[in-house]
Amino acid sequence: MCGIVAYVGEQKAYPIIIKGLQRLEYRGYDSAGVALLENKSIEILKQAGKVSDLESYAANKNTNGHIGIGHTRWATHGVPNEINAHPHNSGDGKLAIIHNGIIENYDSLKKALQEKGHQFESDTDTEVLIHLIEDIKNHENCSLFEAVRLVLNEVIGAYAIVVIEKGTTDEFIAARKGSPLVIGVGEGEYFVASDASPIIEYTRNVVYLEDGEIARINKSEELDIKTISNVKKTPYIHELELSLDSIEKGGFSSFMLKEIFEQPKSIIDTLRGRINPTTKEITLGGILNYEQKIINADRIIIVACGTSWHAGLIGEYLFEDLSRISVEVEYASEFRYRNPIINKNDVVLAISQSGETADSLAALELAKEKGATLLGICNVVGSSIPRLTHAGSYTHAGPEIGVASTKAFTTQIIVLALMAIKMAHKKGTITISKYHEIITELELIPEKIEKILKKNDQIEKIAEKFKNATNFLYLGRGYNFPVALEGALKLKEISYIHAEGYPAAEMKHGPIALIDDNMPIVVIATKKGNYDKVVSNIQEVKARGGRLIAIVTEGDKTVKELADYCIEVPDSFDGLSPLLTNIPLQLLSYHIALMRGCNVDMPRNLAKSVTVE
Ligand code: G6P
Repeated sequence: MCGIVAYVGEQKAYPIIIKGLQRLEYRGYDSAGVALLENKSIEILKQAGKVSDLESYAANKNTNGHIGIGHTRWATHGVPNEINAHPHNSGDGKLAIIHNGIIENYDSLKKALQEKGHQFESDTDTEVLIHLIEDIKNHENCSLFEAVRLVLNEVIGAYAIVVIEKGTTDEFIAARKGSPLVIGVGEGEYFVASDASPIIEYTRNVVYLEDGEIARINKSEELDIKTISNVKKTPYIHELELSLDSIEKGGFSSFMLKEIFEQPKSIIDTLRGRINPTTKEITLGGILNYEQKIINADRIIIVACGTSWHAGLIGEYLFEDLSRISVEVEYASEFRYRNPIINKNDVVLAISQSGETADSLAALELAKEKGATLLGICNVVGSSIPRLTHAGSYTHAGPEIGVASTKAFTTQIIVLALMAIKMAHKKGTITISKYHEIITELELIPEKIEKILKKNDQIEKIAEKFKNATNFLYLGRGYNFPVALEGALKLKEISYIHAEGYPAAEMKHGPIALIDDNMPIVVIATKKGNYDKVVSNIQEVKARGGRLIAIVTEGDKTVKELADYCIEVPDSFDGLSPLLTNIPLQLLSYHIALMRGCNVDMPRNLAKSVTVE
């Protein structure tokens, strides 16, 4: 979490940094700040709140300088106020730092520094880091580059940092471990950011700093990169493929709405080139050499967090149902700490939009130690998970900026479906005709989603009726149980209404006690799967006075008689139905949140890329 941006070159740094921070606000928006270096002084401007609050505050301040650093924060240590906002100064005011990550041993380092006379203003781990750099620099009488390197050998934790030094207007030092950092290479200028979005309008040439690397970035020189153990590295310049349009709202009022409506296109992009138009053969280039390994695996262990974990559950149903490969789905944060059994013949598959989620990365590291095969399904090209895994497939959803995940989820299901269908075909666990039937259905998904999106006004009207509810229950069975979980999560995340997802049949073992005349229940009751059983569950709800919103298959009559509101979705293969049933639930959450005055793109306390445990 936290977004960082830095610039050194001939342009004015402030506007570049502010624009970059706005693009990175999905990473945190508790406070924001910049430090600008001009001649011999460091000007630090910071504010609690969003980047726009910082902009208003800085409107009549000195924002000159051709070198600077900026930060948008998701608070870990210390409340989100101005004092705890980054950048932080060293005690003598000669150095300033921005930091994304957590220094785990900050407490002991802080005590040792306090004994030496250092005084701290904030409650942050970051201020400890910059005081330590100052201390070592003075003690060793060395360059800033060397001081940062020495300090990083003492700290435990995760970091992406940039440090500037008073009087040095042509260079700064950047380093990373566990948190992402991209360096944009321009003509006589450099950019540094947590992802490429602040950089693309200036240069397409980037260097991804690797874990444990530190860079001296001087505007008139080549990048000087070494490891923290002092081994020189040669920078490898990648060319960015990201387009500027893809990171702007394009006429929509929010990124979330844009991303919901983009889903047909994102799915087409994710399918592109992966299904042969004539033979209908599936090719996932990234896992081509690992197909046999997947087929022969004892188990696939899916590790993920949040919405990606819900996609993982759908993956489990698809792999087990179609390709008869045993799958376990684990919360990465639990898996990594519970001494799990991992064998060499296991395939560990991480699903992650950002490719940077700290717990998912740590789960993979653990699996790597045990000799398992590592796969990834990620959206952000070049992120840490794709670089750590042996093989994998990208989702090609395009940048997802709204904090609540939408198009990343649907495209994760697409990739999982492609993998499961491919393995089933290869293993012979489905007939040729079934294979072709599923592929045909898969190719029809984008136009079926278009049809559902046309119901936006109907869904908005339903939202109006329920916007003041305080609790929601979401029910589904089989393939649509994870959709119930995801529907509830989406509502919680952006509208702050308490919502629970439950397997419909489990309702009678607890949640049924909550049902009264005020309780809205969203139930997914599509024709395939366990339709009759779900209808019985609906009757149980109705008998207790619950208010029902049902997602049904076009033409349904039975549920329509029971439910208060019905939203129809086109029919499909059961295993692909989550791709359809999830869309009305995204729109329902979106409209309810908007009607309650919530910021759908930046819900309180959340961040999109969770790079801390
Ligand atoms: C955060 C985001 C969620 C996301 C989860 C996992 O909590 O707010 O939308 O599902 O992280 O992120 P990942 O990038 O690994 O999919």
